[in-house]
Amino acid sequence: MKAKRLILLGPPGAGKGTQSERLVVDLGIPQVSTGDLLRAARKAGTDLGNQAKDFMDAGKLVPDELVVALVEARLREDDAQVGYILDGFPRTEAQAEAMTQRDIRIERVVNLQVPNEKLIGRLSGRRVCRECGASFHVQFKPTKVEDACDKCGGETYQRKDDSPAVIAQRLETFAAQTAPLIAYYDRFGLLRHVDGQGAMGDVYEGIVAALEV
Ligand code: AP5
Ligand code: MG
Repeated sequence: MKAKRLILLGPPGAGKGTQSERLVVDLGIPQVSTGDLLRAARKAGTDLGNQAKDFMDAGKLVPDELVVALVEARLREDDAQVGYILDGFPRTEAQAEAMTQRDIRIERVVNLQVPNEKLIGRLSGRRVCRECGASFHVQFKPTKVEDACDKCGGETYQRKDDSPAVIAQRLETFAAQTAPLIAYYDRFGLLRHVDGQGAMGDVYEGIVAALEV
């Protein structure tokens, strides 16, 4: 049996978004990416979006209480009752504890491992669809038509936080605040390490194998 209440843990550029796109289809569960939800809030000009803006542009974490409320509301929706892929959440021990307090259950935590040198190359060449959020790469996953999403035809763009200075800060933020969650979840026996360095299809196979419970 496959776990369906998942956390994809991994540094910026590890492939959380890329791998979620396939998992959503194959497992029939939604991807809940706090990064995507925050970018949507910014685009819509909500209070939350305005509060999150400066943290995101600096490569720092948005305050825990804002992110926890966002996830809690998303997980109340109908499609999340059968399972969910938490992509980029939790990112601090406080967020993980808040989940436990709210009875948000987790069956498997996948730790996608990729060294920093590779992450920098992935992030600096990434292009994202403005409409559907699909992730591409100028070298590793180019779009068929330049600047146009393969899935929906929307315009692709480079995320503002994919600049060299902000990438460096995001990697530092991950090491300091999120990496401790690896040991945290290992204590509960929920953690599986997956090598995230290979081709996208090979990484996917590794993740699927790690979901067996
Ligand atoms: P978020 O959007 O979650 O960014 P992130 O964690 O930095 O992760 P990324 O989306 O950059 O990487 P990914 O692992 O999804 O990689 P992808 O699949 O796209 O968060 C943004 C900001 O929001 C944070 O900095 C923070 O400010 C805030 N935030 C979000 N959540 C928060 C939280 N819980 N608490 C507080 N603040 C929060 O792949 C990257 C590239 O590599 C793509 O181009 C892809 O095509 C390519 N690629 C993927 N896999 C491979 C492969 N196997 N081989 C070659 N290329 C590959
Ligand atoms: Mg992502």
